[in-house]
Amino acid sequence: MARETWATRVGFILAAVGSAVGLGNIWRFPWVTAENGGSAFLLVYLVVVVAVGVPGLLGEFVIGRRAGRNPVGALRSLSGSRAWGVVGALSVVTGLALLSFYSVVGGWILRYFVDSVAGVVGSQPAYFADPGAHFGAIAFGPEAVGYHLAFLLLTAIIVLAGVRRGIEVGTMVMMPAVVLLLAALAVWASTRPGAGGGYAFLLRFDLDTVVRNLPSVLGPAAGQALFTLSVGAGTMITYASYLGEDRSLPFDATVIATLNTGVGVLAGLVVFPLLFSLGVDPGGIEAGEGALFVGLAGAFAQIPGGTLVAAGLFAVVTLAALSSSISMLEIPVSFVVDEFDVPRRRAVAGIFALVAVSGTVTALRPSIFGFVAGTLVDVLLTTGLIAFLLFVGWVLGREALAEYESGAGALARRVGPAWLLAAGGALPLFLSFSLLTSLGLQAQLGFWGTVAAAVAVAAAAFAGLRRPESMV
Ligand code: PFF
Repeated sequence: MARETWATRVGFILAAVGSAVGLGNIWRFPWVTAENGGSAFLLVYLVVVVAVGVPGLLGEFVIGRRAGRNPVGALRSLSGSRAWGVVGALSVVTGLALLSFYSVVGGWILRYFVDSVAGVVGSQPAYFADPGAHFGAIAFGPEAVGYHLAFLLLTAIIVLAGVRRGIEVGTMVMMPAVVLLLAALAVWASTRPGAGGGYAFLLRFDLDTVVRNLPSVLGPAAGQALFTLSVGAGTMITYASYLGEDRSLPFDATVIATLNTGVGVLAGLVVFPLLFSLGVDPGGIEAGEGALFVGLAGAFAQIPGGTLVAAGLFAVVTLAALSSSISMLEIPVSFVVDEFDVPRRRAVAGIFALVAVSGTVTALRPSIFGFVAGTLVDVLLTTGLIAFLLFVGWVLGREALAEYESGAGALARRVGPAWLLAAGGALPLFLSFSLLTSLGLQAQLGFWGTVAAAVAVAAAAFAGLRRPESMV
C-alpha cells in the first residue's frame, strides 16, 4: 500500500499546529498558570518551550521524516534493533492514554457547545443558573460517557478520511477559525470592566517571585510545555513521517512553537480578563480545571448576548480539541496500518472500540480521570521525549544531523551541532529532573537530591538504551 503524504506545503504545518493548539492552550494553560503564580510561571514556561520544546519537536521530526514510519517502526528500522521498537511502542500507549481522557474533556466541551447553541435559539442554557453545581453534576457519569463517545466518533471520522482528505483538510478549516474567533473574544474581553487586573496578573514581571518559585515551577512548566507542543507522544514523528519533500525542519519547528505559544497567550488574554472582571480569584478552585466551565460560563450568564459569545467560545474550543485528538488517534492507527498492513478503516474501527471503553472508565471515575490527565500523561510524555532525544543523540548521531540539515537554511545549519549535543546530554538530564518532580519526589528529596537522582535516572536510561541488542 502506497503511503500517503501531505498534499500542500502548509498542510504539514497546519496539521502540526492543529495538534499543538488544543485544550492544552485553552483549558490547561490558564489553569496551570494560575496555580503557579501567573507571570512567574509564564516566563519559566516560555523559556522551557524554547530551550526544550523546540529541540524536542525537532528530534521527533528528524526521526519521523528519516524513517517514513510510525514511531514503533521508525525506532526499530532506524536502529535495526527490536528493543528500540519496544521503546517506540510507548508512543502507542501514550496516544491511547491521552485520548482516553482528552475525549472526555472534549465531550464536556461538545456538551457546552450544544447547550449554548440550544440557548441561542431557545431558552437559557442549563449551565447558566448555577455554573459550579451544573459542572459538578455533568462532569462524570452516563451522560459524560455519551458525549465522550460523540467526540470520539467525530475524531474517528476525520482520521478515517485519511491524511490528506481528513487531517489536512480538517485542520486547514479549523485552525484559522480558532485563531479568528479567539482574537475576536480577546478584543471583546478587553472591553469588560476590571479586565485590566487580568492583564497585570498574566504579564507583570517580578524577578524575585520567579527566582523564589523556580524549583517548584520547573516541573509543571516542563509538563505543560511538552503537553501543549504535543511532544513526547510520537505524534510529531507520525506527522513528519508523511513529509514527502525537503522542508526546513528547524523553520517548521520554530513556526509551530511560535504559533502555539501565541494561541496560548491569546487564550490567556480571553480567560484572565474575564475571570478578573467577574471577581473570580484565579488561584481559587473555580479557576482550576473548571475555569472554562465555571468561571467563563458564569461570566456569559451575566452579560447581554452571553449565549451567543458562549456558543462562539465553545465552538472554538471544540475545533481546537478535535484538531488535537485526531493527532492522538493517528499514532496507534499509523502503527497498525504500517506494521500489520491492515486497511485504515479497520484500524480506526478497532482503536475506536478500545478508546470507547477506556474513555468510558475515565468518564465514570473522577479519580482515574485525575490520575490519567495528570501524573500518567506527564510521566509518559517526559519518558517518551527522553527516549526520543537519546535516540537522536546516541543512535542516529551524524545521521540525525544530516536529516536536520536537509532543507534547512544557513542559520539553522549553524545551530545543528549544538542541537545534537543538547539532545544527547543536557535535555534528557533536565527532563529526568522534571520527571522526578512530576512523580512528586522533589518534596522528599529536596532540590539538590532531585538533581542527583536526575543524573542517576539519565545515566541509567542511557546505559540501558545504548546497548539495545542486549535487552532483547
Ligand atoms: N497539544 C495538545 C493540546 O495542547 O491540547 C495535546 C496533545 C496532543 C498532547 C497530541 C500530545 C499529543 F501527542
